[in-house]
Amino acid sequence: MGDAVASVTTGARTIDADFALIGHQESWRTAADVLAVLRGPERTPLPDEEIKDILPWIPPRAVCHVDVGSIIRTKSGAARARGLYIDSFIPPDRLEAAYVHENIARVRGAAACAIKAGAKIVSLGGFSSILIEGNFDQLPERHHTVFTTGNTLTVAFIVQGIQKMCALEGRNLSRSTLLIVGATGDVGSGCARCLAPIVKRVLLSARKVERLRRLAAELQDDGVQVEVATDLQQFSTEADVVICAASLASPSLLLGRIAPDAIVCDAGYPKNLSPTAEMLDAKVFFGGLGQITGGMKFTPDFHGVLNRHPFPDVVHGCLLEGMALALEHRFEAFSQGRGFITQERVDEIGTIAARHGIYLAPLYNADGPLEDGLDARWNGREDESMGERPSRTVGRIERRTSGHRRSSHVRADLMGGLSAPYFI
Ligand SMILES: NC(=O)c1ccc[n+]([C@@H]2O[C@H](COP(=O)([O-])OP(=O)(O)OC[C@H]3O[C@@H](n4cnc5c(N)ncnc54)[C@H](OP(=O)(O)O)[C@@H]3O)[C@@H](O)[C@H]2O)c1
Repeated sequence: MGDAVASVTTGARTIDADFALIGHQESWRTAADVLAVLRGPERTPLPDEEIKDILPWIPPRAVCHVDVGSIIRTKSGAARARGLYIDSFIPPDRLEAAYVHENIARVRGAAACAIKAGAKIVSLGGFSSILIEGNFDQLPERHHTVFTTGNTLTVAFIVQGIQKMCALEGRNLSRSTLLIVGATGDVGSGCARCLAPIVKRVLLSARKVERLRRLAAELQDDGVQVEVATDLQQFSTEADVVICAASLASPSLLLGRIAPDAIVCDAGYPKNLSPTAEMLDAKVFFGGLGQITGGMKFTPDFHGVLNRHPFPDVVHGCLLEGMALALEHRFEAFSQGRGFITQERVDEIGTIAARHGIYLAPLYNADGPLEDGLDARWNGREDESMGERPSRTVGRIERRTSGHRRSSHVRADLMGGLSAPYFI
């Protein structure tokens, strides 16, 4: 990709990029760490309450460059793509419907940054795609920039994760009852279409019954046994495989009646499952995540801050989709709209990603890795494209002691402190 990697012209405040990733932080902790990097090590760290006060005032903006390497070699070395991570700075406690207009404006602002940077493709991470769904006309005028929700690659990694976890646990998927929470969503319905044909029975759950019935009818036409319920307690049977893909503003889901040793994939961002959910024997893993084996570099260095996983170069599938398409030079809106994800499209994006060394990430959950992640793909391969080989552990994120300046000063200081050359 060497030649296709565009130049940075900070003087003119434009940055040509192959791709842009639009995201937001899922907790105050991660938001605080992002701000700490942005402000630089020389600045006094902000106390938590001041971070909560000032974050809503920060406009969407590009926070770092992202360089991603492929395993495909060209004459000039590994194929690469160059992009930007743009944070919409949606406050983590404002994902509810009450803030929808404010949040759409933030995603719109982030989209404007991506367009201004000349990004050829933009991935809409987390709630960005949910907010902009049905509001694509509200995005700024764009001529050479396409948007993808990234949900097709997310579905690919959720499905692969379920299959891998079943294999690790010696379960036979064809004898399983699969429950999908958030089944009528873009991610949930994509998972349903891919997995329903290979399980014994499917339980679909969401709040709106009409949409559940429509999806159930579609699956039943293909001979699948389906039950729908808006209340998880209403299903006639226990699930032994569960996918949580509901668009919850915070981790609040209690699954209730599932098999005690059920395999549970939490694919939500923010996570779906409540930390108080008691699932002692359940095999829970975080789903929809992929790993870039061709290397990834953030400038400034946000490793372990933007991607906080126990394995290196792990990224959410929605963001990886834009990167994979950029490496492939396929600048198209691969995933758009709700409910159009099919097995064929999932296979197609999975193949594109794998061609560039983007695979299902090693499985893990809140307690840590569920496998060692020492994958054969790493063996004997030095990461020439990006310099050093990625380390196996995520660097410790330092939490520095609180400063005591007043919020108004800090706000002004913060705005000034974000004018590093990488910002547009
Ligand atoms: N892991 C990843 O890489 C990745 C990538 C993309 C998205 N995601 C996450 O996946 C989740 C779903 O995304 P999406 O794009 O599919 O969203 P979506 O299209 O808006 O669908 C959301 C689904 O959740 C249901 N839902 C919403 N609130 C609910 C509640 N309180 N209880 C039960 N069901 C509820 C919705 O149906 P009703 O409205 O009828 O309830 C719908 O079925 C989000 O958390 C998103 O951030 C993760």
